Amino acid sequence: MAAALAAFERTLIALDSPYDRFRAGDGAALSDDARQGASLFVSHGCAACHAGRDLTDERYHQLGPAEARDPGLSEKTGNAKDAGRFRTPPLRNVAVTGPWWHDGSARTLEEAVRRHRLALPEMAMPSLLAFLDSLTDRAFLTDPRFAMPDRACGKRL
Ligand code: HEC
Repeated sequence: MAAALAAFERTLIALDSPYDRFRAGDGAALSDDARQGASLFVSHGCAACHAGRDLTDERYHQLGPAEARDPGLSEKTGNAKDAGRFRTPPLRNVAVTGPWWHDGSARTLEEAVRRHRLALPEMAMPSLLAFLDSLTDRAFLTDPRFAMPDRACGKRL
């Protein structure tokens, strides 16, 4: 069962977002807004943690006081210094995976970005959100091979 699930999961590849096409050389794949958002993402330090192909450094960070009330990594390590530390989530398809934050408490993507308590100029938000949306691989999301089946184990779903 585990091997079958792992084999299935290896087929779930979502690397054809507008952002991927842009990086592959298609200059028209991103809107001006999303392109500006991509550079703000780097200049405002987002890319320091949301790095690499899947936009995560795979590390744990404590972003603010609300998180400090939540045990986070310390629940696993037993180390008080790990209280409120959470792993940087990958951002692929993030625009369609709400509610956001480790506990689903951010109801909008904008709120999830604001929770970081970084000094972001108000005018940066629309471009950042356009950039985050450009990480969505819509062909992957609508691929019938990954849709909910009509039936499973002899039952209608
Ligand atoms: C210090 C590292 C760090 C930096 C810098 C950072 N993030 Fe994050 N980001 C995280 C961590 C850790 C989480 C998970 C927080 C949680 O769930 O408690 C997160 C969560 C998110 C989420 C929600 C993802 C989800 O699935 O719930 C978004 C969206 C996001 N970050 C975008 C950004 C943007 C945009 C910036 C720059 C303005 C940024 N991040 C800067 C570490 C970082």
